[in-house]
This record gives sequence, structure tokens and C-alpha cells, in this order.
Amino acid sequence: MLPWGLRRRFWNLIAIAKYRANRPVTIPVPVDDEQPIGDVSLVSQFPGIPIHNIRVADRVPDDERSLLKYYFYEFQVALYRIFGPMQPGMPDIPENPDQALSEAYTKAHRRCFPAPILPPEFAGEVDLGFLAVAGPYAGYLERTSDGDYQWDLRELARYEHHDGLRSLGLRVVFRADGSGSKLAPALIDCELGECRPGDANWEDAKRLALCAATNHVSLVRHFNWVHLAVGGPFAIATRNCLDARHPLRRLLWPHMFGTQYSNQIVTKGQMARGGDFDSVFSFTHAGMCELFEDTYDAYDITVLDPDRDAARRGLDSAGFDTPSLANLRAIFDVLHAHAARYLALYYPTDRALRADAAVVDWLATMDRLVPNGVRALSGEDVTIAGTARFVAALLHLATVQHEVLGTGLWNYQMWSQVQPVRVYRNGRRLPVDVYQRLVNANFNLNVKRAALMQDFGYLALDARAAAEFRAFQQELEELQSRLTKEPFAYWRIYPNILEANINA
Ligand SMILES: [Fe+2]
Repeated sequence: MLPWGLRRRFWNLIAIAKYRANRPVTIPVPVDDEQPIGDVSLVSQFPGIPIHNIRVADRVPDDERSLLKYYFYEFQVALYRIFGPMQPGMPDIPENPDQALSEAYTKAHRRCFPAPILPPEFAGEVDLGFLAVAGPYAGYLERTSDGDYQWDLRELARYEHHDGLRSLGLRVVFRADGSGSKLAPALIDCELGECRPGDANWEDAKRLALCAATNHVSLVRHFNWVHLAVGGPFAIATRNCLDARHPLRRLLWPHMFGTQYSNQIVTKGQMARGGDFDSVFSFTHAGMCELFEDTYDAYDITVLDPDRDAARRGLDSAGFDTPSLANLRAIFDVLHAHAARYLALYYPTDRALRADAAVVDWLATMDRLVPNGVRALSGEDVTIAGTARFVAALLHLATVQHEVLGTGLWNYQMWSQVQPVRVYRNGRRLPVDVYQRLVNANFNLNVKRAALMQDFGYLALDARAAAEFRAFQQELEELQSRLTKEPFAYWRIYPNILEANINA
């Protein structure tokens, strides 16, 4: 077996070469596809990944295809088997987190992208109450029937974990603290027992809770829900139902162009046996596949609308501060206003919208392809208001949600003393190969992509629409300058960090 140092250097070189070779895509003006894109089961496209219920595209459209990238990923996945980035029997990462990071995130990495920063809520005693309302895990908080709040990740117990790991099936109960404006964790019910603040194993229980949340964010909320449950269908339906000169196609195009090619290469690199997901996170390949199947079937599109999602989770009348929710709502309002103004240019009335068979077909196709449908956001009837809300939700998916759940983890998931991706029963830390792979996988999420803040007026069909694209940019800039007047925070999403879509 080759020495670990050589293996590590080789895979670091691959990660850095990939980062350096990547260029932000210029979104082209759409042209019609010759054939509609079909939807087929995931396993039929990726025979090594036994997932039957998830629907994926049957091919990559011609205008997205990149043979170079395709074969690079094929080569990479083939290498997993013959000279993979994992090596059995590796020692633990150093106890000092800065040392662990500096060994895994080398100077060559740092010349590409700055090292992660420890957010204040991770320093000293970890502030789980703040993490419940700010940052990448803020989407989990919900009110219980007895008036408490919780993270309920008990379902994770059902999926096969790697040997020697603690179960991620757990629940955290939160209550407002004395001031009423902040939450504090009151109980963590997990494999360690019913743990309460002050108990000897309380800090261990908090680490386990964050481990469960971060596994769920990366696997379920990011890849399964953003890329597969909605991202893929969004691109298929938009290409198939709206021709290249349809006004709605022009509005949506920057936010879905590239999805099929990107989903194809990334699905393989992450979800193949020995891919990033089963090599890094807590679940075995079989466990991960079952988790994807079940959580795909359970998808609820309400998560794409911050207002409706907050109402569903019982946060509307919560007395405590919900800073991430306020941040997401502010951006959603800009996306929604853009969608509503743009639709108003072409459809004076609901009747006019319903007379457009392409739009009706697009909504019906989305409703068929997204698990459990889209009517919870778009409404039962085709209306301008419902369609604007739904379009805003798709923009939110491609820009904000993808950021929160993907690159938004950069300053969180690398700190495994707080937030490990695996918790070992025998108390050992992560093996160096697992940590190295985690770091490289997250590093590659930070490649430069097409920015949301750019003028898409060249896609407009007429001068009024071009003016609307500019008005959208103007509003994003105004929000940007409002947000920069507040103290900087790592959990906050700023318009100028957002990308136009989910694709590298
Ligand atoms: Fe992604």
C-alpha cells in the first residue's frame, strides 16, 4: 500500500487542479432542444447507486455538455477504486483544531480560497441556542405540540451507520431563556441518554446533535432536496415546456442552465460507492441510499418559501429573535418582487396567464416531477400571484438556499471539535483521511460560479423586460448596502456572495 503522504498529496493536487480549472459559466441565450428531456430513475442512469424512486434527466442537453469535465469525473470515480483518497488504519487528526486544519488545508489550497474562520458561536462553550436560529441549521427549528421548540432528527436512527459510530437519531428541545429573546437547549435525547445542561456528558451531546444536523444538511437538505428533488425537475420542466423565446423561460434560464450536466457529474462523484458521501459522513453506502429514498418521498416544497416555512414550523409568533429567518425573508422579498413585476409585463390578468398553455403545462410538469408536488406554493389554480410566489421560491432555491446549505458550511463543518461529521463511540477523533476528504469536498464547493448580481438584461425579449432585470439588480444592491451597515456575521447571507444557480 502506498504511503499516506503520497496519497494525500495526489488527491490534494486533484482538488486544487479542479478548483483552478473552473471558470464561471457565461449563461448563453437559450435555444430550443431538439428532443424533450426525459425523466428516469436514478439507478437507471447511475447503476452503482441503487435508488429507484428519485427521478433524474435521461441525458445532458447539448448546450450543457462538457466532455472534458465528464471524463475528468469518470477518471476520478475510477480512481476511487484503484488509488482512492481513503486509507484504512489512519491515525486521528491532531487534537488542536488549527493544527488539524493546517495539515489538511495547505498553503496551495489557501492561495485559491481563504481558510475557514471559527464563527463566534463555536468559540468557547458552543451556543446551540444561537445556532438554532442563525446559520446553516436554522431550518430545523420547529414548535412542538406542548409549546417547546425542537430539532427532531430521530429518523436518522433508521439508516445504517459505519461501524463504531454513535447513532444520529436524536432530538434537541429548546426553550426561550430568561430574557425571552434567545433560545437555549434544555434537553438532548440521544444515544448518550437524556442529557441536560450541567450533566457530565452535555458537551458531548451537543457535539452529537451538531453532527446529526450537519449530516442532514449536506446529504438531505443540500444534495437530495436542492439538487435532486427540485433542481433537476426545475431544469427539465423549463426546457421541455417553455420554448426558447418564451418570456418565463428567459426569466428562469440563468437559474437553471447547467443543472443536468452538473447534477450528472456531481451525483457520481458524491453518491457512488466510495464517493464523498459514504467516505466522509456517518452513513454506509446502503444507509445513505435509503436515507435519500425516504427523504425524497417526504419532501415538502414549503421549505422554499421562508414565510410559509416559518408559519409551518410555528415560528411566526415566537417571541425570541430569529435572525436567519429575517435575513432570508429580506432576500426573498426582492426575488418575489422581481418575479411579480416581470410576470405583470406579460400577463395583465389571471385569465391571460391561464390562456398560456405553456405556463400551465410547466406548472403541471413541475407538480408531477417534484415529490409531493408544488401546489402548496403555486396554489391549486393557475394565478399570477401563485406563479410569482412559486417562481420566487425557485430563485430562492437556486441562489439563497443553495448557498446556506452548501458553501455556507465552510466556516462551520471544518471545525470537527465542535461539529464533527462522525462521532466514534470509543471517543477517537476523525481519522486523517476522512477529515482530508471532508476539507477537499468543501473546498471544491467554493469554486467561482456565475454570480447572481450581474445584468441578465441580454436575455430579455424586449426593452421593458431588460429594464426589469436591471431593476432587480438595483434592488439587490440596495439590500446589499443595507446589510453591510449592520455588523458583519458569518451566518448572514449577503446578495453579493450569491450565485445565479446551483451549478459549477
Ligand atoms: Fe450544490
